[in-house]
Amino acid sequence: MEKGTLIKEGKAKRLYHTDEDGYVWVEYMDQATALNGKRKDHIVGKGVLNNQIDTMLFKMLMDNGIHTDFVKQLSDNEQLNLTVDIIPLEVVVRNAASGSFQRKFAVPYLQKFDHPVVEYFYKSDELDDPAINTSQALALGVIKPGESERLQELALQINDLLKARFAKAGLELVDFKVEFGKKADGEIILADEISPDSCRLVDLETRDSFDKDVFRKKTGDLVTTYQEVLNRLNDSQEEA
Ligand code: C5P
Repeated sequence: MEKGTLIKEGKAKRLYHTDEDGYVWVEYMDQATALNGKRKDHIVGKGVLNNQIDTMLFKMLMDNGIHTDFVKQLSDNEQLNLTVDIIPLEVVVRNAASGSFQRKFAVPYLQKFDHPVVEYFYKSDELDDPAINTSQALALGVIKPGESERLQELALQINDLLKARFAKAGLELVDFKVEFGKKADGEIILADEISPDSCRLVDLETRDSFDKDVFRKKTGDLVTTYQEVLNRLNDSQEEA
């Protein structure tokens, strides 16, 4: 398969056409952004790390029955995905308080929830990804009746699988964001990426951050941190 012309450049990935219909060629970039793209840094090595972490996590989810757009890894920083119609919602699952939840409800950092929280944000750079509820998403035509239940069910299944996988690597999954896409036959499948860019992870013992918060808060080196996540996932692969 050949890499075709650029479809679009996002904050951390470039998408290209391929010479076969139904596939998209994804290139993970050496770029990190914060504040919805207002802060942007070139970070050598980030693309390779996120591609490898994402590949490992998507394969694990697929082995456990989750349908995704992942097809195969093409190179250190590239992968092949199925073409889907992305549903313009960021689906966030939280197991403990952090980030915007902590700010909104003024609760202690990492306060654990008995039941996971599911939130939706409307993907719009112009509007700064506002929070949206399911009836608003229906009104805007972003989803159809019945689809929010499916999104929630899938997001919670993914949460259970990721939580268990990260725990084997000595990490607690605080929260994460996923995106879903629709295949031509209407099936909703997991799309986009799962990496330390889109998850909050803390060490089970020390509570140190192992995710993009080190870049957002300028508390550590992003590449060293993501490399440690990859090493821990690799080291715990056997038992996984
Ligand atoms: O900022 P907030 O607390 O709402 O983020 C929740 C989770 O969603 C975090 O893991 C964060 O990394 C992820 N997220 C993301 N992309 C965004 C916003 C949040 O991956 N645009």
